Amino acid sequence: MMPGIPQPAFYMFKCQQSAPPGMPKPSCVKQNDPESQQLFQHLAQTLMQKGIIATVQPIQTGCLNRCQQGPVMLVEPGHTMYVGLTKEKIERIIDEHIIGGNVVSEYVIDEAMWGEPISPAAVAR
Ligand code: FES
Repeated sequence: MMPGIPQPAFYMFKCQQSAPPGMPKPSCVKQNDPESQQLFQHLAQTLMQKGIIATVQPIQTGCLNRCQQGPVMLVEPGHTMYVGLTKEKIERIIDEHIIGGNVVSEYVIDEAMWGEPISPAAVAR
């Protein structure tokens, strides 16, 4: 069999939701916080600089429903939700998790906010 186009080893879903000024609900991209606006670009650039952009796919996504902990990013496979992101944290996640294979547990969302998933089979009508 011919080798196909390889799958990405990881997808990194960075929440890019922003809220207009004055909105009571927090959002991951904040109008008054330039670093929060630069995180996706920083993620993509760092993946490029490290030569791994072909095997790690950064994705801009809408709200992931953990807005209070933003900026957030979900890494798949593994269902790992990183919270309170900064540029430095993203670099460490790439080095230690994506390249090194170890989840950076100090940046992972608290278990109380990220309980075990409910099986769709258990609730489907
Ligand atoms: S705005 Fe990012 S999780 Fe909701």
